[in-house]
Amino acid sequence: MNIDGRPTRTIWLADDGATVEVIDQTRLPHRVSTKRLASLADAADAIRTMVVRGAPLIGVTAAYGLALAMREDASDEGISRAVETLAATRPTAVNLRWALDRMAAALTRPEVNDRVAAAYRLAAEMADEDVATCRAIGEHGATLIRDAHDRTGRTVNVLTHCNAGWLAAVDWGTALAPVYVAHDAGVPVHVWVDETRPRNQGAALTAFELGQHGVPHTILADNAGGHIMQHGRVDLCIVGSDRTTASGDVANKIGTYLKALAARDNGVPFYAALPASTIDWRLDDGVAEIPIEERGPREVTHMTGRTETGDIVTVEIASPGSPAANPAFDVTPARLVTGIITERGIAAASREGLASLFPEHAPRP
Ligand code: MRU
Repeated sequence: MNIDGRPTRTIWLADDGATVEVIDQTRLPHRVSTKRLASLADAADAIRTMVVRGAPLIGVTAAYGLALAMREDASDEGISRAVETLAATRPTAVNLRWALDRMAAALTRPEVNDRVAAAYRLAAEMADEDVATCRAIGEHGATLIRDAHDRTGRTVNVLTHCNAGWLAAVDWGTALAPVYVAHDAGVPVHVWVDETRPRNQGAALTAFELGQHGVPHTILADNAGGHIMQHGRVDLCIVGSDRTTASGDVANKIGTYLKALAARDNGVPFYAALPASTIDWRLDDGVAEIPIEERGPREVTHMTGRTETGDIVTVEIASPGSPAANPAFDVTPARLVTGIITERGIAAASREGLASLFPEHAPRP
């Protein structure tokens, strides 16, 4: 995608061929800047502090983090230590574990004699794969938008929550990829962007990237979605996911579940768009089994923004001294999910639906 007309990804190998550059998402939309990751500690820190965020991007950053770690210590113990350090950064997005397991398995193969080179190669491959996967999700998901337009003959209104666009992946994104593909093909589409408290990924990141791409959009306070659905102003909801069970329960940014409930009550189709690397095939009951990240209270009691004079400041918005809780994700049960948009097509949100697209993960009879 583009920022100010310049094509960019969210993560890339720097010109020195060793360090890694990422877009610093803690400063968007007010400042477009990059951060250089030169060590395992830098990569772990970037994920933990949300300089990079979004399930697919967390996975690819972890892969590059392991490559950086190999320059420091390429022994078996070095791999285990790096995997543990990176896996501990954020608990919900399973793409992190998926990427680390894949890297560790490849690096410990007996035929690998240069672990540093192999790690950089595989991390780059995973970044390219993520782009192709998200693009395929976009192609499949765009059929829903096109069909809605053919049915109604008017602009299709898509509601999304949090940021599951290209900033959450290497490029294209998951939930927003169908929007970009449809928009680029000339299908009139408008996006309702949930602001997504407490960190405002919708208002800050989704609105930024849609604006950069010229996609019509409107930011909504988080509590407004139900109201606009009741008034027929949403044709479909598309969200991303950080972990989806084999049975189709979808964990995504806190507040997603409430949107799915409102969608069901109003007959609005509710889709989750995600790559296979987001599916945790070991899990069945998302509410009971998916670990939900609990973040610090300061994200709820304080807000960061830009003053009219251009300074970026953080202000307290809550009554001083009141405690705050901050669960970062919630689980939308499969029964509320109309379908799951993947790189292989759109599946029913059920064990059978997902297994039909990914038979290699179906339990053997
Ligand atoms: O806490 P974040 O910003 O990492 O949460 C991101 C989300 O919840 C996204 O919707 C999800 O990772 C899907 S990203 C394509």
